[in-house]
Amino acid sequence: MKNRLLFLGPPGAGKGTQASQICNDLDLMHLSTGELLRAEVEAKTSLGQEVSLIMNKGELVSDDIVLSIVQNRLVNGEREGWLLDGFPRNLVQAKSLQKLLDELSQKIQAVILIEISDEILIQRLLSRGRPDDNEEAIRKRLIVYKEKTAPLIDFYSDAGILNAIDGEGQVIDVALRIREVLN
Ligand code: AP5
Repeated sequence: MKNRLLFLGPPGAGKGTQASQICNDLDLMHLSTGELLRAEVEAKTSLGQEVSLIMNKGELVSDDIVLSIVQNRLVNGEREGWLLDGFPRNLVQAKSLQKLLDELSQKIQAVILIEISDEILIQRLLSRGRPDDNEEAIRKRLIVYKEKTAPLIDFYSDAGILNAIDGEGQVIDVALRIREVLN
């Protein structure tokens, strides 16, 4: 079973939902940059105060901040397998990740692109209610995804490790589609 994984997909695609389940089942480190940043905001650290406004507007936090968070966890991680969720978010982050993984002699074994229509993701996010789940921030997150993150689809497709799956339907059905890719 593949155990060095990356989840790609628009906001609300179900990356976090599916990642938690898989990480539990396969004992992987779940590295969600969004979750880690929200923990900083919750704890009211100086980093949290710096990033909270940016996150609530649906914009990307600086590459330096997220790179140092990810680097720390990958270098010091105690588990053999990991799942990156919400990182990388642009080509600069993707190339920095590749360099770091080369240094660690680790490789991404599968990139899972979770696909979902804008209409469904907007419905899901509006009924969740996180501080960045208001209409304006969702619209901004979608624009940022299409402009900055979607180019990673070609980047990982060219690397031969991209697997697109349908993210619509029941959580369990999406999970089964992902499992097929990991076997
Ligand atoms: P992040 O936390 O990564 O948010 P996101 O990518 O916008 O994704 P979401 O968490 O909204 O959606 P998801 O795909 O995980 O879906 P989920 O499972 O939650 O990032 C937040 C912010 O942090 C960014 O905007 C940015 O500011 C900053 N940030 C993070 N990483 C960064 C980086 N690398 N660089 C720079 N900045 C960064 O599901 C959504 C909802 O749908 C839930 O309520 C869930 O219960 C429901 N749901 C899930 N699956 C289904 C299903 N099959 N059917 C029905 N409902 C479902």
